[in-house]
Order: sequence, then structure tokens, then C-alpha cells
Amino acid sequence: MFTKGMGKKNLVGLDIGSSSVKAVELAKKGAGLQLLNLGFENLQQDTIVDGQIMELNNVSNVISSIFREHQIKTNKVAAGVSGHSVIVKNIVLPQMSEAELQESFSWHAEEHIPFDIADVNLDYELTGNSSESLHVLMAACKSDKIATVKQAIQLAGKQPVIIDVDAFAMQNCYEINYQPKANEIVALLNIGASTMNINIVKGTRSVFARDAQVGGSHYTSLLQKELGLSFEQAEAVKRGQPLPSGIEPRPIQPIIASVSDTLALEVKKTMDFYRTTASHGDEGIQKILLAGGGSKLPGLAEYLANRFEIPVEVFDPFRHIDVDDKKFDPEYMREIVPEMAVAVGLALRGVEA
Ligand SMILES: Nc1ncnc2c1ncn2[C@@H]1O[C@H](COP(=O)(O)OP(=O)(O)OP(=O)(O)O)[C@@H](O)[C@H]1O
Ligand SMILES: [Mg+2]
Repeated sequence: MFTKGMGKKNLVGLDIGSSSVKAVELAKKGAGLQLLNLGFENLQQDTIVDGQIMELNNVSNVISSIFREHQIKTNKVAAGVSGHSVIVKNIVLPQMSEAELQESFSWHAEEHIPFDIADVNLDYELTGNSSESLHVLMAACKSDKIATVKQAIQLAGKQPVIIDVDAFAMQNCYEINYQPKANEIVALLNIGASTMNINIVKGTRSVFARDAQVGGSHYTSLLQKELGLSFEQAEAVKRGQPLPSGIEPRPIQPIIASVSDTLALEVKKTMDFYRTTASHGDEGIQKILLAGGGSKLPGLAEYLANRFEIPVEVFDPFRHIDVDDKKFDPEYMREIVPEMAVAVGLALRGVEA
């Protein structure tokens, strides 16, 4: 989004999340695509806090380690940004020429951006055109956020050539793998450790997207606090392990449910925003597709399905991508598939026509 049209060939999709870094490299295979390389390594706790990279060296060491371990030769990288430094919005502008739009866009965008316009990187895509108006998808990201992401990549000796928005990377991944019909409306949710990207997509158009500051780490920290557990213990309990010995037995379900409730409220709020802006007859969201490590919480998919009364499916980023069983262990792949949606979406930028 922010650096369009550069270095389209041979890119590694690099998703720097707050809990781990994921890397994906794809290649063309006949008319389709195949997985060439995949890497996934955890970050130490507190390396990225509140969406900010606090420990640049930790991040760059993990990036280097992934490239080394998987012998990834490609140096060019497409990375993503998300969280409260990112603003995405569909805006309607008066009809004007492309040159006029380019000239005046930042002036028009200013009123939609809660930061100083001088401190953001701005990009847009024309999504619709009528006789009176232009429909434009705007993306803005704080420049210092982009600068630190680039720095971490450069410190690892790699070259950041594309910076995309995570929610759009996931959407790209959805389009390739699901080939949606023009009137199909789905809500894509990427539940990470600290952020949930929500992107409501009609056909191949993003109709409403926002990031909410809730994710898997909120379950972990509440369990830690309520039960007096360490981070590792709380992570294990969250994934269904019994409480460690020495901890006073207590039902954990109410603790989990309170975070799920907060998460569902953010989804509901987003769906409500969307409905108020949707054109008549366009309101019905047909299903939810779930990605991100946070979506693996036992029972979460069922909870959301009951709450929103629509089908909830696990998103498969490799649905239409060939994955060689001999090179990539199927059991491992099944385990980590939800986490890879954004990395695959970013990697697609390297194989687009
Ligand atoms: N089996 C599981 N059950 C419950 N939670 C899980 C499971 N596996 C992973 N998680 C949680 O998923 C989260 C990590 O997901 P993910 O890798 O998508 O996040 P991230 O990209 O690092 O973070 P973000 O995008 O928010 O910066 C962690 O909170 C982790 O505890
Ligand atoms: Mg993430």
C-alpha cells in the first residue's frame, strides 16, 4: 500500500507480530502457486509493546535467524503494519481528474486522520467512480512506525521494498484462496496477540476495516493476574492444560469468557459501523473467516458463531497454494496455518502478475 509497484519479483512476506515473526516465500508453479519457504519464530516477551518495537536488535536477530535456518536466499521483503498507528477508511470525494486527486489527496485526507498529517505516510486506491463522486480507499500510517519496521529489516541485512497494511494483506490472501463472488460479504478477522484486524470485504472490495486492540495476550495477562500464574503457565492454561500444582483450583472459564466478550464487542462495533455506512441491501455479512494465533483458543469459533448467528470458519491461507508434504510436515502445517494468513498475503506481492 505505502510503496506500491516496486520490486514485484522475488519477495519474502515478513509478518512482524508482537509475539512472533513469520516469513513466507511463494513461487509460481504452472498457472498456480507453491510454497517455497516458511519460517516462524517467537519473539521474547516485551520485544514489541503496544505495537511499538522496543528491542530492535531482538527483532532483527529473529529475522536473521529465520532466513538462516530456512536458507532463504531472497533479500527483498514485503512487511506489514497494523494497530493504532494505522488508519484505513473509505472516503467519498468530489469528482476530479487523477492528477487533481493526486495533488489534493493529503488535503482531503487530513480530516480523517487523528494524527498530524506531516507525521504520516499516506496512500490511496481509487475504488469507485460515478459522475459526481470518487470513492477512495485511504490508508495512513505513522511514519515513525514504518521507519522502525524498515530499520529492523535493514539491521538484519534485508531490504524492505513493500510496506502493506496487515488487514489488506489478509484480504489479498483471501482473494487468491477463496475467489469470492462479487456479492459475497465476509468478515475477515485476524486475531493476533495484541491486535485484531477486522476487514469486512464485499467480493474483492474492502468495505470497512479497522484494528481493535484486543487479542490472545489479553487472555494470558488476565489469567496471570487472576490466578497468580507466570506468562508460560498462563499460556499453557489458555491452551487447555490443567492448572499447575500449587495453584488454588478455580474455574477458568469465566476469566476466558470475559475477554472473549470484549473481543466480540469489538467485532460487533465494527459490524455496526459497517451497517450504518453500507448501501441499502448490502448489510448482510454472510460469514466470519478466522485467522491469527488468537483464533486457536478452544471454543472461540463456536462462541462467535453463536453470538453473531452466522457461520464461522477457520481461514486457510494455503487453500489454493501447493504445499509439498515432503518438504513441509503436514502436522506442523495444520498447527500453524491460522498464524500464516498475513505472511502469505504479503508474500503474494512477490508473485503478482
Ligand atoms: N492453541 C492456542 N490456543 C490459544 N491461543 C493460542 C494458541 N496458539 C497461539 N495462541 C495465541 O495466539 C497469539 C499469537 O498469535 P499471532 O501469531 O497471530 O500474533 P502476532 O502476529 O504475533 O501478534 P499481533 O499481530 O497482535 O501483533 C498469542 O496470544 C498466543 O497465545
Ligand atoms: Mg499478527
